[in-house]
Amino acid sequence: MNMNMGAAAVQTSTMPRPTGAPAASQTPAMPRQAGAAFTEAKTEAADAELVFDINKLNLHYGSFHGLKDVSIRIERNKIMALIGPSGCGKSTFLRTLNRMNDLIPYVSIDGLVCFDGKDIYGRNYDVTDLRKKVGMVFQKPNPFPKTVFDNITYGPKIHGKKNRKQLDEIVERTLKEVALWDEVKDRLHKPALGLSGGQQQRLCIARCLAVEPEVILMDEPTSALDPVATLKIEELMDGLREKYTIIIVTHNMQQAGRISNETAFFLHGEIVEIGDTETIFSTPTNKKTEEYITGRFG
Ligand SMILES: Nc1ncnc2c1ncn2[C@@H]1O[C@H](COP(=O)(O)OP(=O)(O)OP(=O)(O)O)[C@@H](O)[C@H]1O
Ligand SMILES: [Mg+2]
Repeated sequence: MNMNMGAAAVQTSTMPRPTGAPAASQTPAMPRQAGAAFTEAKTEAADAELVFDINKLNLHYGSFHGLKDVSIRIERNKIMALIGPSGCGKSTFLRTLNRMNDLIPYVSIDGLVCFDGKDIYGRNYDVTDLRKKVGMVFQKPNPFPKTVFDNITYGPKIHGKKNRKQLDEIVERTLKEVALWDEVKDRLHKPALGLSGGQQQRLCIARCLAVEPEVILMDEPTSALDPVATLKIEELMDGLREKYTIIIVTHNMQQAGRISNETAFFLHGEIVEIGDTETIFSTPTNKKTEEYITGRFG
């Protein structure tokens, strides 16, 4: 199994369902970040719109401090862009949101990562269910070496959906959602690896949608694509925001500006600035943010 396949398989892997008491469900108040777009006076109704509420998250790779006191709140049906220079912890942070760092034995994590009001690192938290609800799309398109149909139905089948009519519906719905249906409807039973790079990436997004996630994590999803394929993915994301929450890492400042509602700027494992995208790109409060978005470093 190659690395790509392994990574993709994580999002649909079957693991025994833990039993016992549910994890703690409190969502403690969060310290306000510089430039944060959230209002001070948060109501319970506003809390219900939070999909992730992360408080003082710290991560170590052995003795290396990879994430430092990261606090961030992510609202439902929004697109959050994560920007920052190479090696500043963006992918590390993204992986903490569906516990993919668990696969690395020397990682230690502390702080609170609440998803839908529950601490995902709490005891007995159902990680399989988390990875179903928080899907991931990687930089390099990584379809399984199977047919288009089998790629999309892989996750639903693992989660117990076997009825052919139901699977046909899932395939059609998700391929339409990613605007790929017209291009592949006559080759559903042909190898996915025969599709172009841009088509493969849309297929990977469809595969992710097939298990009906709430959140889609995207780690530089268009960096391997040409401008036309990139534009297609960006247009698609705009529509996906109606049903899903998207957290996207990008090195493309124009892309962050075009597609996201909010932007977080990471530097050396810390969030230096976070706020609504327009403000971050027009009047950043931190000098480092300004230097980065204007291309003076990174
Ligand atoms: N599995 C790992 N083991 C040890 N250190 C790691 C591991 N993964 C990442 N790191 C370190 O953590 C830091 C952050 O890495 P990360 O991949 O999160 O950065 P990034 O912001 O995504 O960078 P890029 O933009 O290049 O993708 C880096 O110093 C990196 O070397
Ligand atoms: Mg990265």
